[in-house]
Amino acid sequence: MRVADRHYRTIWPIDEGTAGTADAVGAVRVIDQSRLPHEFGTVDLHTLEDAAHAIATMVVRGAPLIGVTAAYGVALAMRADASDGQLEHAARLLRATRPTARNLAWALERMRAALERVPRDERVAVAFRTAALLCEADITQCRAIGKHGLGLIRAAARGAEHGSARAGARGGAGGAARPVNILTHCNAGWLACVDWGTALAPVYLAHDAGIPVHVWVDETRPRNQGASLTAFELGAHGVPHTVIADNVGGHLMQQGRVDLVIVGSDRTTASGDVCNKIGTYLKALAARDNGVPFYAALPSSTIDWSLDRGDDIPIEQRAAEELTHVTGRGAAGTLETVRVVPEGSPALNVAFDVTPARLVSSLITERGVCAASAAGLRGLYPERSG
Ligand code: MRU
Repeated sequence: MRVADRHYRTIWPIDEGTAGTADAVGAVRVIDQSRLPHEFGTVDLHTLEDAAHAIATMVVRGAPLIGVTAAYGVALAMRADASDGQLEHAARLLRATRPTARNLAWALERMRAALERVPRDERVAVAFRTAALLCEADITQCRAIGKHGLGLIRAAARGAEHGSARAGARGGAGGAARPVNILTHCNAGWLACVDWGTALAPVYLAHDAGIPVHVWVDETRPRNQGASLTAFELGAHGVPHTVIADNVGGHLMQQGRVDLVIVGSDRTTASGDVCNKIGTYLKALAARDNGVPFYAALPSSTIDWSLDRGDDIPIEQRAAEELTHVTGRGAAGTLETVRVVPEGSPALNVAFDVTPARLVSSLITERGVCAASAAGLRGLYPERSG
């Protein structure tokens, strides 16, 4: 996607033509999301440990991007030592970085399958090639999700045109041709993937197709992925949007100012329960109470076919400091971190929650739109039946 008129992916290997400096050759370069939206910069990953650190500290984040970064982490590990023991060690280290997103384990399984029968002296080349293929597959899948989700936005736009949408009387962004008002939570855009995004791919395609859209962007405390990242990427692509505090969405739905909700997913069970950024569940409850369609957009790498119950998904807890402190750009132009919670008050930082399938109107996958149910998912992925 575009940043200042240049096309970027979130992750790419560095060769001699693109390195800039000699020591960058062979590294894997990522956009540093921990400094956005204040600074647009990159970080070069040279080793397995660099990749694990980038995932754990959320220099890279978002389920699909975590997966492909782990894949490149394995490739970097193979370059240092292409033994079976190192392959084991790399998978263990990377898997422990973030427990909830299914894509991480999925990518590591793919890397192991690609490498385990390959002779040692070929492992580095095969590992980098496989990681690159996972990136290409993610882009293809996100684009397909975008096309399928575009149909839902088109339908909402027709409703808005004919005044049949709940939002008819009080459109969110004003103006003559009322836009389709879409609420999203966290960042499930191109920054969370390699390109395009999951929840935001349909939004980009709709915008590019000339359908007027406006996005309500949940700030997404405590790390503010909505306010920092979703607002940044929508702004860079010229998509009209408004950042709202996390507690505002229910009120806007009551007022008829939300036509649909689209969120991403970090892990989806075989029965359609959706685990996503903390606060997603509350949006689904508000959507159900107000008759607003609630969609989760996800590539199949996010589906955990081994789990039926959302309750069984491991939920990541992160450092209390993410909640007790806030980082932003100060008046002097430098990044500053300030405390917003009294010294001594304990804080609980739960990173994800589970939205039960019954609250999800449909799942948007790369193969199409289906009911959030075992039957719905099996219909799209018949090879997973039985
Ligand atoms: O903690 P994060 O920022 O990695 O969480 C990301 C989300 O919850 C996204 O909404 C999710 O990964 C879906 S992304 C395409």
